[in-house]
Amino acid sequence: MNLRSLVAGCGGYLPEHILTNDALAERLDTSDAWIRQRTGIGERRIAAKGELTSDLAARAAERALKQAGMSGSDVDLIVLATATPDETFPATAVKVQAEIGMKRGVAFDVQAVCSGFIFALAAADNALRLGQAGTALVIGAETFSRILDWNDRGTCVLFGDGAGALVLNAVRDRDGTADQRGVLSTHLHSDGRLHNILYVDGGPSSTGTAGFLRMEGREVFRQAVMHLSEVVEEALAANGLAASDIDWLVPHQANTRIIEAVGRKLGLPAERTIVTIERHANTSAASIPLALDEAAADGRIQRGQLVLMEALGGGLTWGAALVRW
Ligand code: UT7
Repeated sequence: MNLRSLVAGCGGYLPEHILTNDALAERLDTSDAWIRQRTGIGERRIAAKGELTSDLAARAAERALKQAGMSGSDVDLIVLATATPDETFPATAVKVQAEIGMKRGVAFDVQAVCSGFIFALAAADNALRLGQAGTALVIGAETFSRILDWNDRGTCVLFGDGAGALVLNAVRDRDGTADQRGVLSTHLHSDGRLHNILYVDGGPSSTGTAGFLRMEGREVFRQAVMHLSEVVEEALAANGLAASDIDWLVPHQANTRIIEAVGRKLGLPAERTIVTIERHANTSAASIPLALDEAAADGRIQRGQLVLMEALGGGLTWGAALVRW
């Protein structure tokens, strides 16, 4: 029997504390005008002291499960994408597993930084298609505020904390039916030669410290526009679709200028792109599920519509996923 992964619920969680551009400009040589013009960011959320990535993830997961009419005991797989785990080991996913009351199955992390949610979605979708699990939670959760150099205005203004989650159910595939709901395809790429343009300068095996995020912004920008345009075309071609068939583009939220450039290359009108960067900033692996949650909750994304997601992050890593909601 062929199986596919159906989206059963979606949830998001943002920490309470809001850090505005103006507040940042009080302690750094920057301005609200520069940050808005160059990135589209207006404010970001910052996790409270003692509030960990697993806490944000568990809140988002609980909301997604509630929407699906399920509880933790119904889940037999968690794939959690994060570059800011609670601890070096074990995986943050197993802490979430315990926190949501899931007593069976398996939970693990994937590490693909800002592309993490697409990588986690691919891993979960593949497991469901193979019958290795029946219900999966796919989570993107980050506390990037903890790995930022708050004296580096070139990076610290860009990121925020948050989490988002999707519940996927394995359902029977009706062979040959083109309009079926669920994950249609996922497309993953990486290129380790580009490590130095976006990385963290620490870790347990190198410095023994957590380190800080380092980025050559202009080069990452260039790579992002190029690879994201390629990978969305790849996703469309794999499904015999044109950009005009897509109802919603849900991009990773790194920079409005990147989002607009990819949309323009695709020929997709801006009204069909979900943009949350003004209020969330770049939440790395959490940005896509947070955007999905917002647009599904306010009624923009409707059941049966085609949703195209794309992301690029450190590694470099990049990918896309096409889902009929
Ligand atoms: O999610 C992972 C993927 N990450 C991304 O996709 C990020 C991609 N990169 C970007 O979004 C952009 O490159 C940035 C937003 C990071 C930077 O924008 P940019 O237009 O590429 O600016 P730049 O780095 O070329 O810097 C232009 C100027 C520089 O000053 P000079 O050398 O021209 O005098 C910077 O020092 O802007 C200065 N600058 C700032 N000024 C005020 C850099 N950061 C700031 C700041 N406030 N926060």
